Amino acid sequence: MTLPQGVSGIHVLPADHHDGPWESIIVPPGTKERLLGTAVLVLRHGRALRSLSGSPHGLVVLAGPPGTGKTTLCQGLAQRAAMAVAKRGATTFVEVDPHGFPSEMLGESQRAVRRLFAETLPELAARRPHTVVLVDEVEALAVRRSVASFETNPVDVHRATDAVLAGLDSLRAACPHVLLLATTNFTAGVDEAFLSRADLVLRLDLPDAEVLARIIASSLAELTTLWPPLRRLAEDDALHAKLAAMCAGFDGRRARKAVLGAVAQRPELAENPEWLTAEDLYTAVEAAVR
Ligand SMILES: Nc1ncnc2c1ncn2[C@@H]1O[C@H](COP(=O)(O)OP(=O)(O)OP(=O)(O)O)[C@@H](O)[C@H]1O
Ligand SMILES: [Mg+2]
Repeated sequence: MTLPQGVSGIHVLPADHHDGPWESIIVPPGTKERLLGTAVLVLRHGRALRSLSGSPHGLVVLAGPPGTGKTTLCQGLAQRAAMAVAKRGATTFVEVDPHGFPSEMLGESQRAVRRLFAETLPELAARRPHTVVLVDEVEALAVRRSVASFETNPVDVHRATDAVLAGLDSLRAACPHVLLLATTNFTAGVDEAFLSRADLVLRLDLPDAEVLARIIASSLAELTTLWPPLRRLAEDDALHAKLAAMCAGFDGRRARKAVLGAVAQRPELAENPEWLTAEDLYTAVEAAVR
């Protein structure tokens, strides 16, 4: 299947193989409930809410440093929201690639962005009762106009931002039940007018010691499903706490990689991951800190 310009994936949800991401991300209590609540409200009642004076834009922005689970959480949210509304029909999950628009030619990216919001997304939204759109790394599209310099960022960037805002408004008018999820590494770079349209801006921070310990435990538990003897490490809370303290300042991605890195330290161990010891984990994390 050839995908429309700027679209990197189209999935029909709920689908069993999309179950993993939501559970895999560990966030402070209440975070997932808020996300799911906002998503279900838009998907289920977006059309009815149009009559309110402060009607939702159907836009959720997840902001935070790299590796804090933003993209994964959005993928999980699409599946969970699709499950919540499934008895009223399936959900189309559209992934937008913000780097998939030409920027070299004046006016070209603006036209492409306008086409995405005014034609492509409404056409996709007409296919099924529910639609979730993920714009990953939205700063690539919605660059803050006040900081974008005309030297480093061509006029085209400003126009693309305007096109995104106009597109959001037209998409909302035509399809108020479409949920738009956007992620960004820095809110400072994203246009204020874009952020002010968000129904929910959620910040994912670097994990604290407690969350790090849970991420390490979860990484070991995943390895245990493949190599059952590793259960002794996966159930050792004191070990997780000690490793978490060593990982202070790590993002979730780096913490998960440190655990996997422990298995890759020596070819014999990589061949037989069930031989992994607490000592191996300490050495690997120590090396990852440096
Ligand atoms: N809070 C967390 N709990 C569990 N795992 C996490 C957490 N944060 C990140 N990870 C793990 O790190 C990996 C990267 O996550 P993801 O790509 O979603 O991060 P991101 O915030 O989108 O990063 P980037 O800004 O670089 O795109 C995933 O495999 C995920 O499981
Ligand atoms: Mg990401």
